[in-house]
Amino acid sequence: PSAIRVKILNLKSLRGKRARVLGWVHRLRSQKDIIFIVLRDGTGYLQAVLSGAPARTYEALTLTLESSVELVGTLQTTPEGKAAPGGHELLVDFWRTLGAAPSGDDAFTNRFNEKSEPSILADLRHLVLRGENASSVLRLCSAMLSAFRATYSEHHLIEVNPPCVVQTQVEGGATLFKLDYYGQPAFLTQSSQLYLETCLPALGDVYCVQESFRAENSHTRRHLSEYTHLEAELAFINFDDLMNHIETIICETVDKLLQNETAAALIKQLNPSFTPPARPFKRLAYVDAIAWLNEHGIKHEAEDAEGNVIKDADGKPTMVDHAIGDDIAEAAERKMTDIIGTPVFLHSFPAELKAFYMKKAAKAPGSGDNLVLTESCDLLMPGVGEIVGGSMRISDIDELLAGYKREGIDPAPYYWFTDQRKYGTCEHGGYGIGVERLLAWLANRYTVRECSLYPRWPGRATP
Ligand code: 4AD
Ligand code: MG
Repeated sequence: PSAIRVKILNLKSLRGKRARVLGWVHRLRSQKDIIFIVLRDGTGYLQAVLSGAPARTYEALTLTLESSVELVGTLQTTPEGKAAPGGHELLVDFWRTLGAAPSGDDAFTNRFNEKSEPSILADLRHLVLRGENASSVLRLCSAMLSAFRATYSEHHLIEVNPPCVVQTQVEGGATLFKLDYYGQPAFLTQSSQLYLETCLPALGDVYCVQESFRAENSHTRRHLSEYTHLEAELAFINFDDLMNHIETIICETVDKLLQNETAAALIKQLNPSFTPPARPFKRLAYVDAIAWLNEHGIKHEAEDAEGNVIKDADGKPTMVDHAIGDDIAEAAERKMTDIIGTPVFLHSFPAELKAFYMKKAAKAPGSGDNLVLTESCDLLMPGVGEIVGGSMRISDIDELLAGYKREGIDPAPYYWFTDQRKYGTCEHGGYGIGVERLLAWLANRYTVRECSLYPRWPGRATP
């Protein structure tokens, strides 16, 4: 009798019937005259049993891991006392190899293992992806983006697709990838924010899922040269609304994932101790964070006027307390987040540390000093640190023109962005979520490099 082709996910309804399954040999074990295959087809794993004639062929003897195969047989409930994925197994009576994988030195399992050098794992990323954990992280990423899209839709944000090739910078000239665009200078986008801002009067609140590029020479656990950036922009809000919105979107998205059986299983597999964060998230003003760091003895490397680290006679960096106006570097930020142990909104950073477009905060009465703060916030997660950066935007045209000047930006290529303040300006704000960083937190991965399909970092653009 003929057998219809079924994906592993849909096998349950075919118990006792014949089925034809296509996939890759994920695990392989022989015992006496029986060959056990765990087959993988992307929708799940299936145990298949070859015994008798189907196990006594040359093809069966030389079958290798990662070969692609076609299996036909009868699906039966797994005998009592034996475990198999899905609680059933395929008793194979016909099968064939579709594409053999090498044996010997080139065999899949001889190319790498969990303890291989990171550079080998990076070169073989196309094969590493086939592993259970690596593929589960990518599956969770897909579920997470679907859940975000559903949450945004519920909050009436519209998805748009801004360009990657741009002629304006957003987050500082130092980290731009420059390219020759038909003889004109252009850049790979650092952030789609400016484009989202122009969409507000057309579409209302908007979001995008777009690659961002940063030519940062940062070899850290959380920096990529290209990353997936989930950005949103909202009109007619204030700073408090912005932080509440970020918190709501993240929590509702996490709740959706936990309510989805498949996604919840992935989280459980990758991060068994995950619990959804309690609301409201802690909020810590930048000036209070500086005091907190000093109270907890968390210092940073001293730098001279040129920005070089000052070292002592043994070549060790000199560690000093944080002062108001200092950037909170990754190491200090990470220590702080890990001690606090919950999500934290760090907010109201000095204008000097932040981008040209950020709205200035109203001065606290009697604050006296000339520290200018912005309505800006970073959301920090334990184990990762900053996963979201956001702010209210300058809505006044003259203030924006002064912002360009301060940053040394030629306003000409920004005419379209400036126009947003000319044609019906409004109070507005938005944020960007680093998708790989959020995933590193959710899936408890050591580095964002495990959370990207094909990660790029300084010097790496293959595979
Ligand atoms: O803090 P950033 O630079 O903010 C912006 O780009 C804003 N224009 C976003 C906006 O308001 N629409 O980047 C936002 C987030 C960071 O919090 C971080 O999670 C992630 O993007 N990110 C990176 N992720 C991986 N590798 C890098 N090099 C990253 N740089 C930023
Ligand atoms: Mg940031």
